[in-house]
Amino acid sequence: GRKGDLAGRRVIVTAGGTQEPIDPVRYIGNRSSGKMGYNLAIEARDRGAHVILISGPVALPAPYGVELHQVETALQMRDIVYALITDADALIMSAAVADFRPAQAATQKIKKTDNKVAGQHEKGELSIHLVPNPDILAELAGLLADGGHAGAQHDGISSPQLKRRLIRVGFAAETEHLIEHGRAKLQKKQLDMLVANDVSRSDSGFGTDTNKVLIFHANGDMEDLPVMPKTGVAAAIWDRVVPLLG
Ligand code: C5P
Repeated sequence: GRKGDLAGRRVIVTAGGTQEPIDPVRYIGNRSSGKMGYNLAIEARDRGAHVILISGPVALPAPYGVELHQVETALQMRDIVYALITDADALIMSAAVADFRPAQAATQKIKKTDNKVAGQHEKGELSIHLVPNPDILAELAGLLADGGHAGAQHDGISSPQLKRRLIRVGFAAETEHLIEHGRAKLQKKQLDMLVANDVSRSDSGFGTDTNKVLIFHANGDMEDLPVMPKTGVAAAIWDRVVPLLG
């Protein structure tokens, strides 16, 4: 049965969106509610796993019986993922990680008429210079491909020494070309599975309690799941991860 099929496993789920600071009171964020990730964490807990939930700021209660790590930024999420994956069996990245962050967060609140602040122009305009965040899953794929090579490094990060094979699952929130974008992301991030949802539908994506997903598998198979509650999508995902675990 499903109950207990994750007993003895350590799984990591990331959830929510990251917040990238502009100044002490402002940030760049996104519409991720964290519901999909929290449901994945609760489902894995109920199946017996030790669950590590790495969460951006969300309005959801901390699930009972789950090891919760709260982060704000993509860089904090990346650090904690690397710190915890060495003895994990699975990593499901459902978090909406910001692709860019302000190059530098202002140390004081930016004022409407503060032309000393870098990026502030005449006429009261303000520009914020953004730099790319690391793509955690893509970077990890590169590091694992180099794994074993002593001193293999990407971007100053050395290859994590994993104790067991880590099943990696990514998510993709898309507004168009779901199949092409889903396949491309599975390939680019070298994932075992990619779950793609169409966030332009009213019954799928940010903030909803239901989701309509496509699941892409490393062998090229694709499944088109019906609209389901996020609890059901979470169960369907773990049903497919369990057989992949060594
Ligand atoms: O490329 P895209 O951002 O659409 O990919 C989404 C997937 O990649 C999600 O699983 C997300 O958690 C992960 N991701 C990541 N690091 C980023 C951006 C996204 O690991 N900087």
